[in-house]
Amino acid sequence: MRLVLLGPPGAGKGTQSIVLSKKYNLPHISTGDILREAVKASLPLGVKAKEYMDRGALVPDEVVTGIVADRLLKPDTKNGFILDGFPRTLKQAEDLDKALKKMSSGIDMVLYFATSTAVAIERLTGRRVCTSCGFNYHIKNIPPKKEGVCDMCGAPLFQRPDDNEETVRARLKVYEEQTKPLIDFYMKQGILKRVSGDMGVDELFKVLSKIFSDAKLA
Ligand code: AP5
Repeated sequence: MRLVLLGPPGAGKGTQSIVLSKKYNLPHISTGDILREAVKASLPLGVKAKEYMDRGALVPDEVVTGIVADRLLKPDTKNGFILDGFPRTLKQAEDLDKALKKMSSGIDMVLYFATSTAVAIERLTGRRVCTSCGFNYHIKNIPPKKEGVCDMCGAPLFQRPDDNEETVRARLKVYEEQTKPLIDFYMKQGILKRVSGDMGVDELFKVLSKIFSDAKLA
């Protein structure tokens, strides 16, 4: 199963990727996570990426495409993968197709999480992330048992610097302008499946599992 999860910030791509990755034993490749790790480690890539991420802009195509192309060469992707947050521009999508073609491979399915702006803003401004294991919470929808503390590992939670309302709105604008055209791109290839990202986590997971079994992907 070679999957792409497409949708606006806050659609729940990361949340579903984690559960799908466990259920189907597929590597979860999130360009956002890879870039945030590079920022945390103060790598040259992170220093460069941070200036874009902090204002909600996209990191240049060649940087992100290079990261993904390298990651797809690792042996754990042999039986499939989940791409979360990549591709995000037509150029990235075309380069991904080329890279996979060279490996005699291609994308099986693109899951488009259609999500309303109000839901996306509410989810992102309320998101809290574990500083240690990275688990995502939401102050109202998915609250931790103890405020500010991760249920899984007990580490403190933090708010992503790009989850303030002003930057969230900038990210949504970037999505509309640069990422939304991918819906048409993949629809033309006949591999796009639209689901509602406004659904609850468990409900959406059930819908996705049924899509895979109907398509005989799993
Ligand atoms: P990235 O980390 O990819 O952020 P994003 O796309 O903006 O996605 P999010 O993580 O904000 O949303 P999500 O859809 O994963 O939602 P989540 O499951 O976390 O990118 C960050 C930055 O990196 C970009 O702005 C850019 O600068 C750079 N970048 C990354 N990839 C790039 C690329 N390809 N090209 C160029 N630049 C790139 O859920 C959000 C919240 O909602 C959580 O609190 C969660 O608990 C909650 N939630 C999730 N699902 C549900 C649900 N069904 N019901 C209720 N609550 C839910």
